[in-house]
Amino acid sequence: MAEKLVINGGIPLRGEVDVSGAKNSALVLIAAAILSDEDVQLDNVPKLTDVVTICELLRFLGAKVKIDGNTVFINAKDLNKNSAPYDLVSKMRASFFTLGPLLAKFKEAHVPLPGGCAIGSRPVDIHLKGLKALGAEVSIEHGMAIVKAEKLTGNKIYLDFPSVGATENIIMAASLAEGTSTIENAAREPEVIDLANFLNSMGARIHGAGSPTITIHGVPKLSGTRHSVIPDRIEAGTFMLAAAATRGSIIVNNAQEKRLESLISKMLESGVKIDILSPNRLKVDATQRIIRAVDVRTMPYPGFFTDLQSPMVAFLCTAKGTSVMYETVFENRFMYIDELNRMGASIKTEANLAVIKGVPSLSGAPVSSTDLRAAAALSIAGFAADGETIISELQYLDRGYEDFETKCLGIGGRIKRVKITEEIKK
Ligand code: EPZ
Repeated sequence: MAEKLVINGGIPLRGEVDVSGAKNSALVLIAAAILSDEDVQLDNVPKLTDVVTICELLRFLGAKVKIDGNTVFINAKDLNKNSAPYDLVSKMRASFFTLGPLLAKFKEAHVPLPGGCAIGSRPVDIHLKGLKALGAEVSIEHGMAIVKAEKLTGNKIYLDFPSVGATENIIMAASLAEGTSTIENAAREPEVIDLANFLNSMGARIHGAGSPTITIHGVPKLSGTRHSVIPDRIEAGTFMLAAAATRGSIIVNNAQEKRLESLISKMLESGVKIDILSPNRLKVDATQRIIRAVDVRTMPYPGFFTDLQSPMVAFLCTAKGTSVMYETVFENRFMYIDELNRMGASIKTEANLAVIKGVPSLSGAPVSSTDLRAAAALSIAGFAADGETIISELQYLDRGYEDFETKCLGIGGRIKRVKITEEIKK
């Protein structure tokens, strides 16, 4: 049954919040478990619908998968299919992460092209070019990416764009290739580092993750392991911006300062006070602060995260002056802005630019979310706005934020989830 979030805003958020494991690490680590025939245990896995979806996919392929709270147990020894079903892949792009591991394991894999989504066309040409360089024959038939290789041989691969998914798919395939591969212009995201550490704990030999050049010395097989997923830097940033947007003050646990530098720098520039309490704990304080407009450009990591673009815009709606947000990573990631303008924001968009003219305050309204991070941005705006905001299309939010309402209630947010059939209580 469809549900909505009802948020009553206008009060500063205060308290302490714990950040969960990173969605964009957990999903690729679960896919990478395909590479081993032994037991893999993942801890600190967030309880998200996307995690359930990729676990369903691995079960469909024949792996044994058990989800027990924030722990996932996987054994892919009996994996007996190398073709992923369309309905699962189209539901979640991250299913495409199974292509590299299935190719490495079976020397043939059939995975439907993920297709576009709300934020852009989401091509996979860089993934396929990388697998081809490892010796795979690549063809597209009936919407399926079909990759086959007698054997995978290490090679030098240059990425036209530092694609996170392509970097990860190539690392996974190259881990079991013969010889050495080098990825140039690789993605530097922390989730790529987490994947390399996970695979190295299984016996892989990967160096340079987190830098633009990653070297992978192929090995014959990978063992099992136990690994804890890194904290979610996007969730951390979302709560930091929620506190600042409401002029509140919160402590964020498992917020790794070293991995949030681009956001911290922009929030400090806008006038928010941020204290680093420890390498993994920080305090955001915007109480009584004058918040000024800042200009932001999203870039591949370590630049400003495209996944925090919409939460940042929600925060800037009530900054003094005019801010400019330049989205350089995805081609269509401003759809939520119409909804913010319905809440009294004053934002104009032109291609990949959004011009945000600060307004004194926002006002609550019924709004609809178009993608995962847009749902987060509308929640932030709801907490900052005077009055009631009702957010629909919650399936997006549940894909990426574990226990979202509970965490918001824990920092004083007035939020509740209601079923559509119930009359929204005035
Ligand atoms: C990952 O997506 C994340 N998803 C995204 O998070 C994140 O926004 C993105 O990286 C960028 O940081 C997961 O990790 C599951 P890309 P991915 O390949 O790998 C173009 C969220 O909200 N491109 O780095 O798909 C592409 O069109 C999600 O949690 C090609 O042109 O991102 C885009 O413009 C949203 N050809 C740009 O690169 C390719 O073969 C970045 O894409 C691949 C990508």
